[in-house]
Amino acid sequence: MFIHKTDNSQLISEFAQDVREGLMSSKKKLKPIYLYDQIGSLLFEKICLQKEYYLTRTERTILENFSPDIVSMQNDTHISILELGSGSSDKTRILLECFLSKQKPLYYFPIDVSHSILYETIHKLSTDLSDLYIKGIASNYLEGIVKVRDFINSNQNLPNKKLILFLGSSVGNFEPNEVIDFLRIIKTIMDKQDMLLIGFDLQKSVKTIEAAYNDRAGITAKFNLNLLNRINRELGGEFNVGGFEHLAFYNENKARAEMHLLSKFDQQVKIRSISETFFFKKNETIHTENSYKYTLRQISALAEESGFKVKNNFTDKKKWYDLALFSPI
Ligand code: AVI
Repeated sequence: MFIHKTDNSQLISEFAQDVREGLMSSKKKLKPIYLYDQIGSLLFEKICLQKEYYLTRTERTILENFSPDIVSMQNDTHISILELGSGSSDKTRILLECFLSKQKPLYYFPIDVSHSILYETIHKLSTDLSDLYIKGIASNYLEGIVKVRDFINSNQNLPNKKLILFLGSSVGNFEPNEVIDFLRIIKTIMDKQDMLLIGFDLQKSVKTIEAAYNDRAGITAKFNLNLLNRINRELGGEFNVGGFEHLAFYNENKARAEMHLLSKFDQQVKIRSISETFFFKKNETIHTENSYKYTLRQISALAEESGFKVKNNFTDKKKWYDLALFSPI
């Protein structure tokens, strides 16, 4: 098992700066990446099991139905698989097993910011799947892909052809203009024969989407509020977490689910490590996440604008979710 790690102290000071900036802006906001500390990542895994959160199980069904097609569309079974934001790699396992029936050994490079989840996942997968060679990268997406590409290029025994996975609708957490920049950067790291498989949540009824972000068991609420606990733990924040509540709704104009933390009353909160005190009015919110929902037409426009073409859309019967296979043009 191999894991590359990014320096933690550097991440903490970046966190402090981002919190300072986000809470000072006129519309308070915090970057969604900070939802995923160790506790947040575990809560997210729990969200994926909630019955209202249709995204995970729908993506799983698509992988169960279409993994053989995805494998056969690679034109070459000798392949290295990279995954951005791999988490528990739970659904990926379906695709890995399908590749393993054709190619042994298979090379898998999961990339995730959470070192602990990565460690656990690698341990589990390498115990269960023989002939799977895993090298985990604990870093952000782009740094991670560059590291893997350099590693593959410097190691002649590894398959050069890459399939990059970006599952779970994480692409939906980027702003639309950021997605294009992000895909363009990924493209610079890809060769002509490489492919990119992206999970997109599709537009559907407001009721279904709002239920997914307001599960009855309150796990999404805990996940959102954990961000305040994280600031308390890591930055000496003095948030009274009970003074805030989870707010999630679908913004139809922008085709996105929004998550906020709403202040229940006027309050002020000190954050010691950045020597600042922030004021919150009753009902004022901190915007913590957007989750964009796409149409198939928008997905092909996005591909085109970022230098790709859609080779195939793999969807479920209700057309709630799409696994889009992109190849560089
Ligand atoms: C990781 N990401 C795709 C999830 C989403 O649906 O936007 C994160 C999440 N936020 C609330 N529930 C799940």
